[in-house]
Amino acid sequence: MVIRETKPVIFLFTFPLQGHLNPNFQLANILFKRGFSITVIHTEFNAPNPSNFPHFTFVSIPDGLSESEASNPDVIELLHDLNSKCVAPFGDCLKKLLSQEPTAACVIVDALWYFTDGLTEKFGIPRMVLRTVNLSAFVAFSKFHVLREKGYLSLQESQADLPVPELPHLRMKDLPWFQTDDPRSGDKLKKGVLKSLKSSSGIIFNAVEDLEAEQLKQSLKEFPVPHFCIGPFHKHVSLSSSSLLTQDMTCLAWLDKQELNSVIYVSLGSIASIDESEFLEIAWGLRNSNQPFLWVVRPGLIRGTQWIENLPKGFIESLDGKGKIVKWAPQIEVLAHRATGGFLTHCGWNSTIESICEGVPLICKPSFGDQRVNARYISDVWRIGLHLENEIERVEIERAVRTLMKSSEGEEIGKRIMPMRETAEKCLEPGGSSFMNLEKLIAHILSF
Ligand code: UDX
Repeated sequence: MVIRETKPVIFLFTFPLQGHLNPNFQLANILFKRGFSITVIHTEFNAPNPSNFPHFTFVSIPDGLSESEASNPDVIELLHDLNSKCVAPFGDCLKKLLSQEPTAACVIVDALWYFTDGLTEKFGIPRMVLRTVNLSAFVAFSKFHVLREKGYLSLQESQADLPVPELPHLRMKDLPWFQTDDPRSGDKLKKGVLKSLKSSSGIIFNAVEDLEAEQLKQSLKEFPVPHFCIGPFHKHVSLSSSSLLTQDMTCLAWLDKQELNSVIYVSLGSIASIDESEFLEIAWGLRNSNQPFLWVVRPGLIRGTQWIENLPKGFIESLDGKGKIVKWAPQIEVLAHRATGGFLTHCGWNSTIESICEGVPLICKPSFGDQRVNARYISDVWRIGLHLENEIERVEIERAVRTLMKSSEGEEIGKRIMPMRETAEKCLEPGGSSFMNLEKLIAHILSF
């Protein structure tokens, strides 16, 4: 093993969706802090703001997406378009970068860039992959062939609650499923991602080994390449924002005026969408709970409307200051605020780990993909949240908010999240699992 004396350049190919850009940039910051130079390769679509990261070099590649492709509500189709259109531009970019930096250590790609294996092999540069989901969801994805063969991915409604024999804890309805018009498109994505992971020089996870030790073992069996669980990423270094939308900072002043642990924070992440009737049910459920709430209604969240124009007249006034609705929030700060006592979430992994790190218990309303697996772990395995499993109805929302924030059951849930929070904190300290795994990751990169 050759250990270099100077720390070389890493090329990081970020994926242009919010739930990926955040961990992509967090990882870049972690590696920069350890002395690596970082060159960020990004698409023009959803381009990050370089001025937030003056310590990195930025290289933009043309993605060739048309306006209609860039705004395709079928995210899986968008992923395939990006993967097919970026082959030539990424190849040209890599060739040019390698001529300038022939000693570059490796390329780190987000796992959704499933086309990159052929090109990195052609140019003879090691390729590591960042997988932004946790290990429990990852293991469920990795069994996709078996699940498809056994017909679990196309079951009837009546079988939704049956357990999945191959995946303890999960029910049929929790299996990773994608919002796409063509189910073959979801299969193509999974196949592409799994193939590119198997041929990688290692997989980096924003996960904590001590929280998912069994799943790590299973994943290593399926993917015999080094795994590095170095999460929670956002707790390693102080962060600059990689937010594509402007975060409404007035949330924090509003939270300052609320009582300790009194506010339910509500956000369904950066991709999921709901229809207007679901939106209204959530609105009334929150209002009827009588609990202060901070609600992120992202433009595009409600299908067919601009923003909150369809709230009944007088609804906001009727809240009497008890509710605040914003387009996008500084989520990490909101979760860390002393007034935030619960999180009604779609269970994206970033949101979940951010909440665990602040000891904020959850109400789960998952939509697709890994979110369903996360929700099952949150409610049934870790038991740090409630699970809304039926259609969205105001009485259910009201009941869940009251239970989480005001009942002895909610208090128990709140107590159970604290040891997880502590584990997520301790793993970063010297000798902790993520601390040690980061040392191994650095040694691994330096050995290429
Ligand atoms: C989706 C998947 O569900 C997720 O599991 C996968 O890893 C990435 O793609 P997304 O809908 O973006 O994710 O949710 P999530 O993973 O929770 O990421 C959202 C990010 O946006 C979080 O880092 C959160 O802090 C940030 N955010 C969210 C804000 O900064 N402000 C907001 O108002 C809402």
